[in-house]
Amino acid sequence: MYKLLLRPLLFCFDPEKVHYFTFSVIRILFKIPGFKIIFKTLYEVNDKRLETEVFGLKFKNPVGLAAGFDKDAKLYKELSHFGFGFIEIGTLTPKPQEGNPKKRLFRLLDDSAIINRMGFNNGGVLEAVERLKRNNGVLIGGNIGKNKNTPNEDATSDYEICFEALYDYVDYFVVNVSSPNTPNLRELQEKEPLTKLLQVLQDTNSKKPIAKPILLKIAPDLTNEQLLDIIDIVKQTKIAGIIATNTTISREGLQSVNKIEMGGLSGKPLTNRSTEVIRFLSEKSNKAFPIIGVGGIHTAEDAIEKLEAGASLVQLYTGFIYEGPALVKAINKRILEKKLR
Ligand code: FNR
Repeated sequence: MYKLLLRPLLFCFDPEKVHYFTFSVIRILFKIPGFKIIFKTLYEVNDKRLETEVFGLKFKNPVGLAAGFDKDAKLYKELSHFGFGFIEIGTLTPKPQEGNPKKRLFRLLDDSAIINRMGFNNGGVLEAVERLKRNNGVLIGGNIGKNKNTPNEDATSDYEICFEALYDYVDYFVVNVSSPNTPNLRELQEKEPLTKLLQVLQDTNSKKPIAKPILLKIAPDLTNEQLLDIIDIVKQTKIAGIIATNTTISREGLQSVNKIEMGGLSGKPLTNRSTEVIRFLSEKSNKAFPIIGVGGIHTAEDAIEKLEAGASLVQLYTGFIYEGPALVKAINKRILEKKLR
């Protein structure tokens, strides 16, 4: 129904407006008695065999919603009934910020892709915390970043502010240094500043009653040499794992006319590169740490490939827009089938 009826209608309008409109509609629908049950029946696959334990957390299934979709933690409860095993909120920054000027989100229909240059638009970490206080059991990842106006030299304190604010309300953390839409942010992926940043966060983490898993989200545009550095950094700082990958700045092989837009590219053109990064990290590290695989998952097979390449969990964003919630169910069912063989 989504691909046949809803998608053609939604794709007639501006992508960002559609995003907020859909949020409002979902919120209203879930207020109607009985609607939640219908959704759960349609999209959730409840089976013990899908349960996955990774970095000390129990996921009811290994398919999550990637960061950027519910940046401000406004819809995570409703979204959890679309069949996801976990929801990553953010990227959140200490202070609220508008993000880049509109128009900043583009569909590349001929490539089943999206280009975005949102620029960490969000209402600030404290507002999200108020919403997360009302959580009743959704497994949440907190993706954190720095404000645009914070110079890279002071970035650590922005990540620490977000870490402290979210500590009681999320299950794991993601340090995002890989968005192409905040000027110079990706320079923090260099070995020295990155080791420092992660070490400071780990030191703060170790002083807590229970240390929470901290993951690092990386860009697909890193060279093999840089990926080897990342493996060293994970080992040295003992963070819990990696999320591979964020959007790419590459425009290789695209057909769509709006491929010239600035920003990060996601969706189908990213499928193979992100799987390649997962495989490289998994092989070269000897599976030393868990990896969450994300990037261009549009079919159940795409997800299986990432799991077989070394991912312990997967996440979707663009595939969810193009294929609809049926994709989440299809992936979970395919994983189950594989387990049964
Ligand atoms: C994103 N993504 C993202 N990632 C992140 O760590 N913080 C963020 O705020 C955002 N924001 C965001 C906005 C939009 C519009 C898109 C399309 C994507 C990246 C996302 O989480 C994911 O890593 C990539 O999109 C690759 O996965 P898909 O979309 O190909 O499944």
